[in-house]
Amino acid sequence: MEIAPSRIERYFEKFEFNTPYLLCSSDCQSFTVKEILELEENAQDKFMDLYLGYTETRGHPELRQVIANLYETIEEEDIIVFAGAEEGVFCALNAILGQGDQYIVQHPNYQSLEEIPKSIGCKVDQWKMSHLDNWECDMDFVHDKVGPSTKAIAVINPHNPTGSLMTRADIDDLVSIAARYGSYIFSDEVYRLSEYHKEDALPALCDIYDKAISLGVLSKSLGLPGLRIGWIATRDKEALSKIAQIKDFITICNSAPSEFLSTIALKNVTKLANRNLDIIQSNLLLLDQFFDNYQYVVKWVRPKSGPITLAEIIPSVDMEAFCMDLRESEGVLLLPGSIFDYDNQHFRIGFGRANMPEALERFSRFLDKTF
Ligand SMILES: Cc1ncc(COP(=O)(O)O)c(C=O)c1O
Repeated sequence: MEIAPSRIERYFEKFEFNTPYLLCSSDCQSFTVKEILELEENAQDKFMDLYLGYTETRGHPELRQVIANLYETIEEEDIIVFAGAEEGVFCALNAILGQGDQYIVQHPNYQSLEEIPKSIGCKVDQWKMSHLDNWECDMDFVHDKVGPSTKAIAVINPHNPTGSLMTRADIDDLVSIAARYGSYIFSDEVYRLSEYHKEDALPALCDIYDKAISLGVLSKSLGLPGLRIGWIATRDKEALSKIAQIKDFITICNSAPSEFLSTIALKNVTKLANRNLDIIQSNLLLLDQFFDNYQYVVKWVRPKSGPITLAEIIPSVDMEAFCMDLRESEGVLLLPGSIFDYDNQHFRIGFGRANMPEALERFSRFLDKTF
């Protein structure tokens, strides 16, 4: 298999665990094992008695049931649980795509959604989003591009790296275009539950379209990436069975302790998501002030969801060098736009962590010194 390196993983490999302030993380503040066990009576004893044998390939039935509860039409049997969302992306795209298939994906994006189809030999069309259009999706593009050879269209809602969300009208339009040609929609919904206004939240695509494959995970809004538990939800039985067959050759089944803790976390999903939404909302107020104070240097399209956005530096800089200078001088990590194959004036900022105010203060000090 020929696949391009993951730009983000190679960057984080160098800097994530040796930089004190991560001002670009895509996940929210995490929890400890103790905090998760305290959510349920007797959970600690049950955890200690947990048998460490193989687990069910598709995921523990109780875990699949609490996942199914997050949807309107999805049953336990429509779910497969994976080692993070990443394994779900790999298995699902390999299951539904073949060499020569046309595949459309939003750009900028989470790189796997583009790189895996390229490695399969698909004809990949980028559905470009721009800060100049406030990251809104150009529906004319899909109207022009989607046709009988379109095997799948991939969307990310809420969106990484911009924090944007498609409108409900655009989603309905997308579903009707896909349905016309029998195309799959691969819907990356890993940031669900982080919408700032409930009325902006979109339905899960697997609830409104038979050939949609929805991707979920505990890593982002709930802040539990160390559990490595993600899932695929779809009513398309044929796709689901092919996805399961691929998983047999990767992880076979999930970690029992992770499944146990994930089940408790998802039984308390509102509580955990709201704790993190509170952190996001209070950090957003600081960012409003920051973008106002430094409007001669930085600008943004205020996001609608999630703990990240792609912001812009106005003076001409080499963004990669700028990020390295900031790291050296203040111990703060940003992600240059080049990681997302976007222009060199943009950077991803993350604001789902509790120490974000201090990181932002250090970033502000660096801007004062530099411009
Ligand atoms: C949009 C998107 N999809 C999928 C993933 C993969 O998630 P995980 O790290 O939980 O496997 C990420 C992680 O950053 C992401 O941002």
